[in-house]
Amino acid sequence: PTTRHYTFDVRMQNVSRLCHTKSMVTVNGKFPGPPIFAREGDQIVVKVVNHVQYNVSIHWHGIRQLQSQWSDGPAYITQCPIQSGQSYVYNFTTLGQRGTLFWHAHISWLRATLYGPLIILPKPAVPYPFPKPYREIPIIFGEWWNNDTEAVIKQALQSGGGPNVSDAYTLNGFPGPLYNCSQKETLKLKVKPGKTYLLRLINAALNDELFFSIANHSLTIVEADALYVKPFKANILLIGPGQTTNVLLKTKRHLPNGRFLMAARPYNTGQGTFDNTTTAGVLEYEYEGKSNANASVALITPTLPAINDTAYAANFSAKFRSLANSQFPAQVPRSVDKSFFFTVGLGSSPCPKNQTCQGPNGTKFSASMNNISFALPTRAILESYFSRKSNGVFTTDFPRTPLIPFNYTGTPPNNTMVMNGTKVVVIPFNTSVEVILQDTSILGAESHPLHLHGFNFYVVGQGFGNFDPKKDPPKYNLVDPVERNTVGVPSGGWVAIRFFADNPGVWFMHCHFEVHLSWGLKMAWIVLDGKLPNQKLPPPPADLPKC
Ligand code: C2O
Repeated sequence: PTTRHYTFDVRMQNVSRLCHTKSMVTVNGKFPGPPIFAREGDQIVVKVVNHVQYNVSIHWHGIRQLQSQWSDGPAYITQCPIQSGQSYVYNFTTLGQRGTLFWHAHISWLRATLYGPLIILPKPAVPYPFPKPYREIPIIFGEWWNNDTEAVIKQALQSGGGPNVSDAYTLNGFPGPLYNCSQKETLKLKVKPGKTYLLRLINAALNDELFFSIANHSLTIVEADALYVKPFKANILLIGPGQTTNVLLKTKRHLPNGRFLMAARPYNTGQGTFDNTTTAGVLEYEYEGKSNANASVALITPTLPAINDTAYAANFSAKFRSLANSQFPAQVPRSVDKSFFFTVGLGSSPCPKNQTCQGPNGTKFSASMNNISFALPTRAILESYFSRKSNGVFTTDFPRTPLIPFNYTGTPPNNTMVMNGTKVVVIPFNTSVEVILQDTSILGAESHPLHLHGFNFYVVGQGFGNFDPKKDPPKYNLVDPVERNTVGVPSGGWVAIRFFADNPGVWFMHCHFEVHLSWGLKMAWIVLDGKLPNQKLPPPPADLPKC
């Protein structure tokens, strides 16, 4: 194993898109940020130096952080943010992990511009469980705001309304040719005929799940969230923020008479406003000095599902199965020690006095799990837990079931009450956990990409309507359910996940839509120490930032 050293200088940089130049927060002046490459088992060491006026923290999305809990990154959960002029060294192993992940800022809305791929190749001489690709190409989806994103969210939180939507979606930072004033800012993939490419797709967009397709090419899905899956073909993919998907692209045997658009646009069933534009890049063929990369060659456009095509979304996510072979067995918890039922959804809460709120009927938008809208503390939970001084930072009474019993009957239930609090669930080391995540559909059915830090989990069941505790569990897949770190809770439905709590520490769980995160759709787990030395939370590093 090698140690891979990186320096992330967080600094302002002028970036132009859509004929609009803004000074924005970047890592090393790059947008998207620089990729991190490693091989399974390597140690990754990143020194993050903050040269901007904002507080910063970086999360390594999907890295389990076994014995490096202080490097996870969510601000006020595992660390205080890195203040202006300060630095912090993140230091973690990739032991037992391989695949496509990404890193992103984990404070306020800074992840709008602070993100990049984190790619872990298998150990040397260990092949992929699929044909060796000719080339590998990371494609990271994002969003572009002409305005400063910190101002966008600040304005929304102060007014109690929704934030302004983005001006474009992007592929590797480029909006593409379907936007005004964006012709030059187009991602172009040059491919050769008769080859297999591995596309490493990452959804780093802030607030939208995205459909993705390449005209006249079908894709074979081989990995999700850095875990191998049984390969399957699809013409159109759906990827939620926080999810990654590796796909094989087989190019045409001969130089085709066409250029092919690859396009992404949102899947959205909510009632709020959102950006319903399409980002695109172009697949161009070249062969022995011949190229079809010129404007006279027909540009072929893919067909994408309707924006609210929940049937397509549900069918697609039901196709994922873990590889579950002898080399990569599925270790699904067969029995459950602790079972939880969490409602996830939007709601509204009373408008604070002396304020006019722009939410429904003059209320303030909020989001909650089990009717708790999670409030970020002003000191880090991990630190106060470690020092056994939880006073005032958090309480351990996050409810196992919703505060208001949930029953979705087709009309919005009276379940909008939320309570603010910094509440966590405490569970012993190695507990086998089951969580049913039920969308409440209060302000219109909406899908929520739920992400868990510190673990991968198995998605053992999913369905529409109310979860039925009698009829649904017997249908669970405990043989080869997909394993991931982010799952879409279906619009108007539920998913059941299971995992072993074999990682002591404080672990954030939240909707990966940044706007829902800001509104409180989040909670945290504390997993207690086990008996063995490597089952205990290590002490904090000396340079851990102070609040
Ligand atoms: Cu990718 Cu807590 O997030």
